[in-house]
Amino acid sequence: MKEDIAKNIIAHNYVVTKSDRQSLKKHRPLLLWFTGLSGSGKSTIANKVEQLLAAKNIHTYTLDGDNVRKGLNNNLSFSPEDRTENIRRVAETANLMVDAGLVVLAAFVSPYIKDRAEIRRIVGDENMVEVYVNTSLGECMKRDVKGLYQKALKGEIKNMTGLSAPYEAPVNPEIEIHTEQQSVEDAAQQILDYIQPKLDQNI
Ligand code: ADX
Repeated sequence: MKEDIAKNIIAHNYVVTKSDRQSLKKHRPLLLWFTGLSGSGKSTIANKVEQLLAAKNIHTYTLDGDNVRKGLNNNLSFSPEDRTENIRRVAETANLMVDAGLVVLAAFVSPYIKDRAEIRRIVGDENMVEVYVNTSLGECMKRDVKGLYQKALKGEIKNMTGLSAPYEAPVNPEIEIHTEQQSVEDAAQQILDYIQPKLDQNI
């Protein structure tokens, strides 16, 4: 925000707190951030994890690149600057949802290490679990569920992650999924086992 504007914005404190909301929900909030190439399986795995959480009465919400880009972020392209702005807005949205007490699942290519570090800064290290959905470019191109790689090869799509735009893999993600060796069910269970203690509000 511009400094002259920022100095006239004074945060208001509300009586009902994050901790009050957590007591109502009976679980801690969390952000599960899925990163990986387009077509790597982020949304599919997030979808499965969300079903398992819902079955445990955990309140969730999923933010997905393909959906958010049709609404909140429909003015953003796939240039490096717009991807950074895409991720910043989503991180701020997720932060509000974490404050509201939800377990947020976010599935975005989010190809830049610096942008993912910024998410962690926005929501707080203790609230963030980074899930690297590690599927090779070759496998994503083979699956090509949306036909985007085919279009990119024909030159119809510019800045395609993995082909004509970079993907910076996480160096030390909390969770790494290898979809070429694991089933969706295995992956979802691995994630659930990892986050279960973090959701327990008595710890
Ligand atoms: S991000 O890089 O800004 O994080 P985001 O996750 O929101 O990307 O959107 C990626 C989705 O947009 C992909 O799953 C794919 O369906 C679609 N898409 C369209 N063009 C591109 C492109 N050039 N690079 C990557 N994904 C693209």
